[in-house]
Amino acid sequence: MNPVSPRRSILSVPGHSDKMIRKAVDVGADGIMLDLEDSVAPSAKVQARRQIIAAIRDVDWSHTVLSVRVNPVDTPLAHQDLLEVVGAVGAKIQTLVLPKVEAASHIHFVHHLLEGMGHEIALEATIESPVALENSLAIAAASPMMHSLVFGIADFSASVGAPQLSLSGHADSDLYPGHRWHYVLSRLLMAARANGLEAVDAPHGDFRDAEGVIASCHLSRSLGFDSKWAIHPAQLAGIHEVFAPGEDEIARACAVLQAFESAERDGKGAEAVGSQMFDLATVRLSRRVLAKAAVWSA
Ligand code: GLV
Ligand code: MG
Repeated sequence: MNPVSPRRSILSVPGHSDKMIRKAVDVGADGIMLDLEDSVAPSAKVQARRQIIAAIRDVDWSHTVLSVRVNPVDTPLAHQDLLEVVGAVGAKIQTLVLPKVEAASHIHFVHHLLEGMGHEIALEATIESPVALENSLAIAAASPMMHSLVFGIADFSASVGAPQLSLSGHADSDLYPGHRWHYVLSRLLMAARANGLEAVDAPHGDFRDAEGVIASCHLSRSLGFDSKWAIHPAQLAGIHEVFAPGEDEIARACAVLQAFESAERDGKGAEAVGSQMFDLATVRLSRRVLAKAAVWSA
């Protein structure tokens, strides 16, 4: 399986709109997800499949991570999505996004189907219900093809009965001391990381609310999330800014590594940078920051 390049943003594009699909490739998203699920009306699914296949064939997607979201595996649509789309252009798809995954068996099904078709494609499971969250550790561990867990905030809100305070974003943290999605985000992150997977945050539903996008990015990134879905190209700049290490963070990571080298020479395990002490854990964190900075210079 080819490695998936690091992403800060994943732009979701409805599969029924050929114009939007072909425009999306040039908007600068780190990843593009062509959608066959909820942004496509039931009557447009067949047409969307055809369009997605044609666009994947015709367009040069090499400078972005190309993903396709199929329909949930417990619907008849998913089988056809996988057989037709992967059968036609599977070699060009870098990840398959599997919505409303509820159990490890959903992943096993796709794993075996892909194996039978002779394809290995990175899998991203969206967690959109309480049962999915409860099973997230097993879902993350269900296949070596698993690449990430994604928070599906809109369906999650619907399935737990959370009021829709904003369209689907979670920047409304002043409404609850702490953050009303803290538990879900943290639990999803732990399930992902315990299995070496990436954690992807839900989109912010109001694409005109630039501040809201940034606020929700800060919340999930501060927990450790890697990236965020976008529903409009206008959201990309804010997402990229927050999910790439900033200048201060990079400078601090460099200072820690420098101080660490001199501490090592002096046979010390802990050292101060400014008024803060660091040790090997901080060094590990700093190396992660610099690895990300090497991909996206701030
Ligand atoms: C994504 O699928 C969501 O429900 O938010
Ligand atoms: Mg959903």
